Amino acid sequence: MSKVIKGGTIVTADLTYEADVLIEGERIVAIGPDLKGDEVLDATGCYVMPGGIDPHTHLEMPFMGTYSADDFDSGTRAGLAGGTTMVVDFITPRPDESMLSALQSWHNRASRANSDYSFHMCVTSWNREIFDEMKVIIEEKGINSFKHFMAYKGSLMVDDDEMFQSFQRLAELGGLPLVHAENGDVVAQMQAKLYAEGNTGPEAHAYSRPPEVEGEATNRAIMLADMAGAPLYVVHTSCEQAHEAIRRARQKGMRVYGEPLIQHLLLDDSEYANPDWDHSAARVMSPPFRNKLHQNSLWAGLAAGSLSCVATDHCTFTIAQKRNGLGDFRKIPNGTGGLEDRMPLLWTYGVRTGRLTMNEFVAVTSTNSAKILNMYPRKGAVLVGADADLVVWDPKRSKVISPKTQQSVIEYNVFDGYEVTGLPRFTLSRGKVVVEEATMKTEEGHGKFVPRKPFTAVAKALGQWKDIVSPRRVERAGIPATGI
Ligand code: URP
Ligand code: ZN
Ligand code: ZN
Ligand code: ZN
Repeated sequence: MSKVIKGGTIVTADLTYEADVLIEGERIVAIGPDLKGDEVLDATGCYVMPGGIDPHTHLEMPFMGTYSADDFDSGTRAGLAGGTTMVVDFITPRPDESMLSALQSWHNRASRANSDYSFHMCVTSWNREIFDEMKVIIEEKGINSFKHFMAYKGSLMVDDDEMFQSFQRLAELGGLPLVHAENGDVVAQMQAKLYAEGNTGPEAHAYSRPPEVEGEATNRAIMLADMAGAPLYVVHTSCEQAHEAIRRARQKGMRVYGEPLIQHLLLDDSEYANPDWDHSAARVMSPPFRNKLHQNSLWAGLAAGSLSCVATDHCTFTIAQKRNGLGDFRKIPNGTGGLEDRMPLLWTYGVRTGRLTMNEFVAVTSTNSAKILNMYPRKGAVLVGADADLVVWDPKRSKVISPKTQQSVIEYNVFDGYEVTGLPRFTLSRGKVVVEEATMKTEEGHGKFVPRKPFTAVAKALGQWKDIVSPRRVERAGIPATGI
């Protein structure tokens, strides 16, 4: 049974043109005028775009004494409802756990996914076993990206010594280091001080991790990656200080990517001043929401190309879970959601305001992460041979975001009441229509793991350059090459 998407305008990261798309099974087999298929999907008045890729989620993640509430079933359903056809989730081993054992638990949990998925691996400690496992994970398990937490001292945090060794190992194996950039030592001290002074509410979470803390860590990670000869991907870039560091590094020719979240683009720190504890705690995440000046910096970075991908860091907790931190903000589980709303919000507040072009929208919601993470053009493209992960985007469809109609299992939504214009008419996952307007046709377990190879073009190029500029001994007459 073939399908043809008829009468739409194809929008990719670099082109906008009218054409039909023919799908056989799971793949795109033809693009052009007047195509015929067994089933017709009417795209009149719509844009046909690569399905969104959310490069940053935490589904059913063990964290801060609990598990994030959305799992691979509800999380990927939420994504598909909003046009996101793939998530890249973070395997987060406990510091005493092996990467391979954590990988197995993630594969088990992800078997429920409704959309395709891939994994990043987190480096939560450093020892000989991890050093060895990295090779297996990269060469045999289809994972080429590894996140390092510079915060969460006492649990997930790694120090500079460990990070630098890990980055060097990744450079050697062709992997991509990722960082959660916040100075965890300073945050821990600030938290203790604020708490001792009686600042126990959710607003203290934001006071304990100001923008400078993120800017410093971003600079430090950039330096470590440069020394190691590796590219660097900075997750959840939330402020001008971090953006400035990334911008400066890129101008110097360094391969550094920044990832703002839809939450940081639209929500600000006034949320923490809300007198309702539940409201503020629901918005506790790291880094915290910033003021409008930072938001403007992030929007500018997307337009200028100094920031590369818009993600969600989808990591939801119910109000009951958030209340673990009543009386002590340090115990409020960190995380917010956004999987269902990322694309409609970015379209509404980015494309409809003229801050972003439609092509830039596709680049930052899909194509750029597919390229950086090495799954392009199987994902992130409308091309013959690519997976038919597509969204038929109706720029006129509107709704008001509400927890009553969302796929996420939590009882609130940080974007509750936001009006969006621009929503999927159809979402397709590997050729299957999984969403038709407000009707969900998803199938639990339909999603497949997408393996990703090491040595992107950028990693290869950095390796060549490093060989050329690496330190070389100066030969001097009469001086032996080895010590005596
Ligand atoms: O607050 C956040 N971001 N929670 C998820 C874990 C992380 O740091 O990405
Ligand atoms: Zn993080
Ligand atoms: Zn995260
Ligand atoms: Zn299926």
